[in-house]
Amino acid sequence: MEVTQKSFLLILAIVMVSQFLFVNGDESTKTRVKYVKGTKMCDKGWECGGGYSRYCCNLTISDYFQTYQFEDLFSKRNSPVAHANGFWDYHSFITASALFQPKGFGTTGNKTMQMMEIAAFLGHVGCKTTCGYGVATGGPLAWGLCYNHEMSPSQSYCDDFYKLTYPCSPGAEYYGRGALPVYWNYNYGAIGEALKVDLLNHPEYLEQNATLAFQAAIFRWMKPMKKSQPSAHDAFVGNWKPTKNDTLSKRVPGFGTTMNILYGDQLCGQGDIDPMNNCISHYQYYLELLGIAREEAGPHEVLSCAEQVVFNPSYVAPTAAT
Ligand SMILES: *[C@@H]1O[C@H](CO)[C@@H](O)[C@H](O)[C@H]1NC(C)=O
Ligand SMILES: *[C@@H]1O[C@H](CO)[C@@H](O)[C@H](O)[C@H]1NC(C)=O
Ligand SMILES: *[C@@H]1O[C@H](CO)[C@@H](O)[C@H](O)[C@H]1NC(C)=O
Ligand SMILES: *[C@@H]1O[C@H](CO)[C@@H](O)[C@H](O)[C@H]1NC(C)=O
Repeated sequence: MEVTQKSFLLILAIVMVSQFLFVNGDESTKTRVKYVKGTKMCDKGWECGGGYSRYCCNLTISDYFQTYQFEDLFSKRNSPVAHANGFWDYHSFITASALFQPKGFGTTGNKTMQMMEIAAFLGHVGCKTTCGYGVATGGPLAWGLCYNHEMSPSQSYCDDFYKLTYPCSPGAEYYGRGALPVYWNYNYGAIGEALKVDLLNHPEYLEQNATLAFQAAIFRWMKPMKKSQPSAHDAFVGNWKPTKNDTLSKRVPGFGTTMNILYGDQLCGQGDIDPMNNCISHYQYYLELLGIAREEAGPHEVLSCAEQVVFNPSYVAPTAAT
């Protein structure tokens, strides 16, 4: 009895060790390394863009963020009452990220920083696509990715000011679609150009193709709105160094500033309003599910943008007499 147990354990140990070696061997044959002017560059195959980048030397997203974690974060998205049920999945997210991992999306800094960036990005996605409310089963934060488009658009979001650069296609409507909903012809036009997909004539692609919807969202996360401003990615991972003006405007690297960049005065500079707190809550909830302590996300001034001056005010109040 004792002997059989021991040999069983031994066999088990051998099997486990050989699996470990196999996985490692597999990994190392997959990573190709070269040095360019003293900088280590790696090629890890398709998930990191299929080319050499210094970011590809770090873990790739699927090394630390796996299917079950995606399922945990968005646990109610396929429930019968979820509007986009069946649409969003893990594979689409990883496939979409392959365009941006070589540029640092989810591959910048150490593993904690990498996981925090994914939680932050998905926190924005969650708070913009949720249909959770106070008494929803599983709690209001379990309902991210419930939508993939705006349900009752009040207009078609065609701005004629851009009729030369991004003319609206006859009959097309540019209401909110995607993982970080895209609105207006000029945004569809610019994102379509960047991703080499004709979104101006086919805005509906964003609600038909989850990979494309995630690509559009990650593109927005990675790209500054203006040249003089940081991207949400740069503001989050600490690539961005605030100017004196930024400091005076209470803009510091961290999650709060990503809300400022992506949503301006819809969320920021308005005090402790619900839509802002809702995004922070999604971020914190996802951090927790990924096993990262809330304190890692920093103090309130870093998390929030309640007191920040916005980068791009959407509306400047008239100063003339009323
Ligand atoms: C890769 O990870 C290490 C720590 O794990 C980090 O110091 C380094 O900055 C990362 N590389 C890049 C390009 O972010
Ligand atoms: C990871 O990086 C963050 C920020 O860059 C730092 O605060 C933290 O101490 C690092 N963690 C480890 C385990 O090195
Ligand atoms: C979805 O979009 C991706 C990225 O643009 C593209 O590679 C793929 O072919 C599209 N899928 C379909 C079914 O059109
Ligand atoms: C500083 O901020 C003010 C107000 O937001 C702006 O008008 C000014 O151009 C900024 N200066 C610089 C150097 O960015």
